[in-house]
Amino acid sequence: EPTRFNGKGVSRAVANVNGEIQQCLMGRDASNQRQVDEELLALDGTLNKERLGANALLAASLATVRAAALGLGQSLYDHIGTLHGNSNPARLPVPQMNILNGGAHADNSIDFQEFMVLPVGSSSFHEALRCGAEIFHKLRSELIAQGLQTAVGDEGGFAPDFPSNETALQAVLQAVERSGYTTSQDVFLGLDLASSEFFADGEYRLESEKNSYTSGQFIDLIVELAGRNPILSLEDPLDEDDWEGWVALTRKLGQTVQLTGDDLFVTNPGILQKGVDLQAANSILIKVNQIGTLSETLDAVRLAQSNGYAVTVSHRSGETEDTTIADLAVGVGADQIKTGSLCRSERTAKYNRLLRIEEALGERADYAGKQAFKQL
Ligand code: PGA
Ligand code: ZN
Repeated sequence: EPTRFNGKGVSRAVANVNGEIQQCLMGRDASNQRQVDEELLALDGTLNKERLGANALLAASLATVRAAALGLGQSLYDHIGTLHGNSNPARLPVPQMNILNGGAHADNSIDFQEFMVLPVGSSSFHEALRCGAEIFHKLRSELIAQGLQTAVGDEGGFAPDFPSNETALQAVLQAVERSGYTTSQDVFLGLDLASSEFFADGEYRLESEKNSYTSGQFIDLIVELAGRNPILSLEDPLDEDDWEGWVALTRKLGQTVQLTGDDLFVTNPGILQKGVDLQAANSILIKVNQIGTLSETLDAVRLAQSNGYAVTVSHRSGETEDTTIADLAVGVGADQIKTGSLCRSERTAKYNRLLRIEEALGERADYAGKQAFKQL
């Protein structure tokens, strides 16, 4: 028997929203987000939000914040700012633009999942976006010149068949320079290794090199890679359970490189607290659907901000054209946003929303730039 949408259908989530959830929330004050989210958690009643489903709970939670903003006659980012204790939000995040894809997001031989450009030297958000778009299209021409594929991966970055992670990195650097930008000044690189994807049986396995590394050896490899390249940010450089490795790497590299936990923290305040206590990583990726309600997301952001961890609001590889994360990033005053490449409408929708927010803020708009990284 065929499964609806290969098991990815949402008819159960929709039925739960239109049924139990609607009954529970009818008549509630949407501006009391915390109370609504607590009601949702209590209604579900499980630790993993498995009874009603995280898709149903998150949809209701985000619909609530949108309804409240509309009712209050406020922009969504202003209302989220109020909920977060951030009055008059005006900070625009640095975009981490994923222009080359490997790993699980592409059918090529690159082990690392994402190669991103970080235009920290730009004077505004729209200039930063222009910078990323120019580099993206320069990279395209260079791939064509080398006879490589220009089809894109899940997040809109190119997915050519480079022989190694290092050649992929060099291609991005070359595209930056040939676009007229200076690496280590205008633009830095960020990588999402997503290394839990190639960690198994206690070893990091790089297929492109046909080589395996222990945690200690892989840390050395990462430190060398970061030492000889203008890398400012590394996401999930180590496996999500390799806490010892994370602590060691943070000690070695944390002063010069942003070390971001995505699979490590999964936007969970409890797990982030463990990271803070151990001094593992110095930055967190925030994904609303990892934790499942807006209030819990804001808790994770608050914990990060009060402990000096950088905050990057992020999309997922599977996305829609919903733009809530753009308002979330501005509302909480995030340092960075990760929302893919400069193509595919589910990616550009977020960038376009940030451009509209920047316009609305006018003179008050404050591009985070170099301030987004305490390593600079
Ligand atoms: P995912 O990838 O949405 O497939 O988890 C995004 C990321 O790893 O940052
Ligand atoms: Zn990631």
